[in-house]
Amino acid sequence: MRDARIGGDGPDGDRQGWWRDAVIYEIYIRSFADSDGNGVGDITGIRSRLGYLRDLGVDAIWVTPWYPSPMADGGYDVADYRDIDPQFGTIADAEALIGDAHRHGLRVLIDLVPNHTSHRHRWFQEALASPPGSPQRARYVFRTGLGPGGERPPNDWTSVFGGPAWTRLPGEDQWYLHLFAPEQPDLNWENPRVHREFASILRFWLDRGVDGLRVDVANALVKDQDFPDVAEELDVLEPTKLIDHPHWDREGVHEIYRSWRRLADEYPGERIFVAEAWVPTPYRLARYVRPGELHSAFNFDLLRCSWDAERMRTIIDDNLEAMDEVGAPPTWVLSNHDVARHLTRYGRPHTAVFGPRTELVGPVDLELGLRRARAAALLMLALPGGAYVYQGEELGLWEVEDLPDELLQDPAFRRSDGTARGRDGCRVPIPWSGDSQPFGFGPSGTRPWLPQPPEWKDLTVEAQLGDPASILELYHSALRIRRELPAFGEGGLKWLDGPPGALLFERDPTVLCAVNISAEPFRLPEHAEVLLASAQFPGNQLPPNIAVWLRRTA
Ligand code: NOJ
Repeated sequence: MRDARIGGDGPDGDRQGWWRDAVIYEIYIRSFADSDGNGVGDITGIRSRLGYLRDLGVDAIWVTPWYPSPMADGGYDVADYRDIDPQFGTIADAEALIGDAHRHGLRVLIDLVPNHTSHRHRWFQEALASPPGSPQRARYVFRTGLGPGGERPPNDWTSVFGGPAWTRLPGEDQWYLHLFAPEQPDLNWENPRVHREFASILRFWLDRGVDGLRVDVANALVKDQDFPDVAEELDVLEPTKLIDHPHWDREGVHEIYRSWRRLADEYPGERIFVAEAWVPTPYRLARYVRPGELHSAFNFDLLRCSWDAERMRTIIDDNLEAMDEVGAPPTWVLSNHDVARHLTRYGRPHTAVFGPRTELVGPVDLELGLRRARAAALLMLALPGGAYVYQGEELGLWEVEDLPDELLQDPAFRRSDGTARGRDGCRVPIPWSGDSQPFGFGPSGTRPWLPQPPEWKDLTVEAQLGDPASILELYHSALRIRRELPAFGEGGLKWLDGPPGALLFERDPTVLCAVNISAEPFRLPEHAEVLLASAQFPGNQLPPNIAVWLRRTA
């Protein structure tokens, strides 16, 4: 039973640990719903679709950055953390969204970007206007360049989007650090002023009723103050096993999160954090969710895994074990706005995911991808803990791989000289209704900021709603059953024996999930009822690329 007032005193509104098994829907705001027809999604658009999200059966939404931004990185370059970009709306719209969402029984998470600001942020502008060594510069990471005139970068660190992680100030020997684009200068978390500022920003939004914050690159804030070379070719989103890396996953970040947790705990109704931390192992990830630190952390292992039963089982076991050791629930993710959509990944024999550098090589079989994506949804939603659904995965959207070069906006595309296509292909606006662009994304006549494939006319919400064969109805059923059956959500799982390529596990003695990742059918265990199947099949043999939830006799 849903409560109409989240965080209030209703039946479910204050459920202790609501987030431990929550399904949270990621809204990439630029591409969700556009109310004013400028081609870019906005807050009023989100408000108009809350009924859809409530009916889908998710518990909460996470909205990607909505702050004023020059959009050098889709809003992850924040110019003012206490305001809303005019193309997305106003503070009043944000407050109205939070209120409306709560009335729909949905909690609201927003995105916090603490590692870097926009170069247009007042602080960075002040830093540029102030001399080396000034307090204004001390909010960012400025260093003297190497060589007689300081003409070489201070060290060999590279930007995630390609090229050096340092940019030199004109006419100076000073360089500033940006682990991402040059328009995203890194803040200096050695400076107490930065800590105070973010505590105040947290309060600003918690006071406005947000239920949680996603912490962008939570593993990057603290840097080795000796600034040593990395001395190794390294991709952040494919981290090496290095524990003592000069800027990823350093011990110092944890003290920041302990202080944030204390702050959030002062608020009623369990306000939560979810960490985005690309770290090499589940055990390193678990350190972010130790008691007194953040509540949850995305586990990106499944998102990086090909359609491979053995590997998936290891990932599930390792994550359950690592999270169990610290008493936190795992948080599963198949797709987000930084990687190629999983339908497309599963439509190829092997896909390597390095964030902006997803390697999509060879022809894709979208039909196979869809079959597997349907099965993967039942797998993910049967696992213990929480899960994130990325907008459009419930519609079976694929990665749009043929966007014209001139429309690509991801800084990764240009900074890699086009060797990485970047992440625009998973950010194409959502098709809601109708037979042609903009497919209800905006008012008729709207030109979405990225073009939608004409074939998406068959994937609109309107086309799928009420069609029992659609992936949207599969998500509806799965989320409803998950909510109704106590076996799902938090807890453990028990593996059952099966042939190679089978994932077969019990959530309690009466509920079982079977996924066939092999090329051969296998015989399902005795059961009383099929609760849900990702595709129809006759008899008792589970065909390849299908998942099923079974009720067994106890
Ligand atoms: C992770 C975000 O998800 C991504 O979109 C962004 O480019 C980087 N962090 C930098 O903020």
